[in-house]
Amino acid sequence: MTDEHEHGYFTEANSAEVVVARNKNAKDQRLGQVMEVITRKLHEAVKEIEPTQEEWFEAIMFLTRTGQICNEWRQEYILLSDILGVSMLVDAINNRKPSGASESTVLGPFHVADAPELPMGSNICLDRKGEPMFVHGRILDTEGNPIAGAKIDVWQANDEGFYDVQQKGIQPDFNLRGVFRTGADGRYWFRGAKPKYYPIPDDGPVGKLLGALGRHPYRPAHLHYIVEAEGFDALTTHIFDPDDPYIDTDAVFGVKQSLLAEFRKVEDAEAAAKAKVAAPFYDVEFDFVLSRKKK
Ligand SMILES: [Fe+2]
Repeated sequence: MTDEHEHGYFTEANSAEVVVARNKNAKDQRLGQVMEVITRKLHEAVKEIEPTQEEWFEAIMFLTRTGQICNEWRQEYILLSDILGVSMLVDAINNRKPSGASESTVLGPFHVADAPELPMGSNICLDRKGEPMFVHGRILDTEGNPIAGAKIDVWQANDEGFYDVQQKGIQPDFNLRGVFRTGADGRYWFRGAKPKYYPIPDDGPVGKLLGALGRHPYRPAHLHYIVEAEGFDALTTHIFDPDDPYIDTDAVFGVKQSLLAEFRKVEDAEAAAKAKVAAPFYDVEFDFVLSRKKK
């Protein structure tokens, strides 16, 4: 028996071992390790599912359609990763934080790198549509000290659940996004419009899969943040409206208990004048805690 056959010929019982042994000369050790795990788990799944030939072909055609719909703007495999919870799992593995630090969640596809830096307090809702919102809080370290010079990059959907980049010519460019920098007190504040829930793109194979699984494609209303400060780990996260109808069933599993913010409705005209918005408005207060970079 040659070396290649040390595990014998392929049988149903030893299928994974035979394939893994064949990869033993992988030039890239990490690739070899990854393919070993994937081979073992995939064979295990096939043995448990016992697909018919037709079912296996349907799986292959699903992956084919998932690839075929991808283009410069559409990445259906990311959606697939999202709805399987894998995007959130990879995010969790790569962003383990010390206790007390704010938790991360997925970046999502709608971040724009060159959003304008604005004076603190600016209204990022350029078309003034929707219900006014005043958002404020502090950027802190894990000891509760304010962080000066922190950069806060925020973006959100409008009151109809669309980002500016999805509605070019309908929303002004850079609508509902902005970059702010904290002063010595670590405080931030800005004005916007209460965001609405929105569906992930559901007109492709992943949307069909969601439908077949009895799932909806919606993400609960949220604001996206990237908070960065020198000497601290960058934080990519969202804050969520806990009263949203989809808060417990986010299609991409992005919600975490610690990221629920209160969207407090304020009718008081004096408070509105102070926040420079019309009453009634939503007051949203949220502090972000950054973890110190490991030396
Ligand atoms: Fe989003």
